[in-house]
Amino acid sequence: MAFHEKEVPANASLAVKMMAWVDSRLPVTDAFKRHMSEYYAPKNLNFFYIFGALAIVVLAIQIITGIFLVMNYKPDAAKAFESVEYIMREVPFGWLIRYMHSTGASMFFVVVYMHMFRGLIYGSYRKPRELIWIFGCAIFLCLMGEAFFGYLLPWGQMSYWGAQVIVNLFSAIPLIGPDLSLWLRGDYVVGDATLNRFFAFHVIAIPLVLIGLVAAHILALHEVGSNNPDGVEIKNTLDANGHPVDGIPFHPYYSVHDVMYLGGFLIHFCLDCFLCSRNGRIFLGSE
Ligand code: HEM
Repeated sequence: MAFHEKEVPANASLAVKMMAWVDSRLPVTDAFKRHMSEYYAPKNLNFFYIFGALAIVVLAIQIITGIFLVMNYKPDAAKAFESVEYIMREVPFGWLIRYMHSTGASMFFVVVYMHMFRGLIYGSYRKPRELIWIFGCAIFLCLMGEAFFGYLLPWGQMSYWGAQVIVNLFSAIPLIGPDLSLWLRGDYVVGDATLNRFFAFHVIAIPLVLIGLVAAHILALHEVGSNNPDGVEIKNTLDANGHPVDGIPFHPYYSVHDVMYLGGFLIHFCLDCFLCSRNGRIFLGSE
């Protein structure tokens, strides 16, 4: 129950008084109700509807592990590879942080592809959800850029040639191509200038845009409400209280449902980090 500061009963607990103090200045409880406990979602959402919530979790994992990686990484052509070796061998749990970040990057795409697939099979890109889809497409473009810029940072053979190929793709554009790829690279060859600018894009520019786009994506979704496998527009049939007959509050019904699937996802995530990464694509020795 949300109180305004002036309405709090004298015998209310300290927690209620503190919350009323905050709510009178910033409507936290109202926002929680609007977007969680009184946000109605269709009753018939299925397995494919967990991937939006999982994408938020993976985004958080990437940001948190990324912050710890930046504490020891050096964006300098002479030191970058060495600093990654240092993270893998000397920094306490540095290997785990790095594997979580690289596994998280791959998982991000698995999760987002499932999320987009769901949108395609249920027609969630159609009226009134066009803007959600458009924000989604922008998010997907940013994600591809983010992954590409991150791949250069270990400054190994794979990074170097990856950057070489992708930057040179732009030189295929008629007329402006060669100048454009030179401008992107910041040098005639992939070098220190390229590494520095890719670092700036990977660590600050694209994550900021991504967070803004995700916020816009979810606000747009909460304006029109979720689609569902049967395509029923739940806002069209309301009960006497004005709540959708075919809807249930997101919290606690779907928040608990999503947390259950999150458990399964994290088991897979851990198996990948602990059992697959060392033998696979990311082990430093193979780069
Ligand atoms: C960081 C990436 C993303 C995050 C965190 C995210 C988050 C979410 C969340 C939390 C939902 C509501 C829950 C759900 O329906 O699963 C949602 C719905 C939706 N998302 Fe995303 N999303 C992302 C990327 C994308 C992309 C790349 C697209 C498509 C190009 C997309 C298209 C949609 C659509 C159409 C809906 C509404 C689906 C429906 O109501 O049936 N999203 N998103």
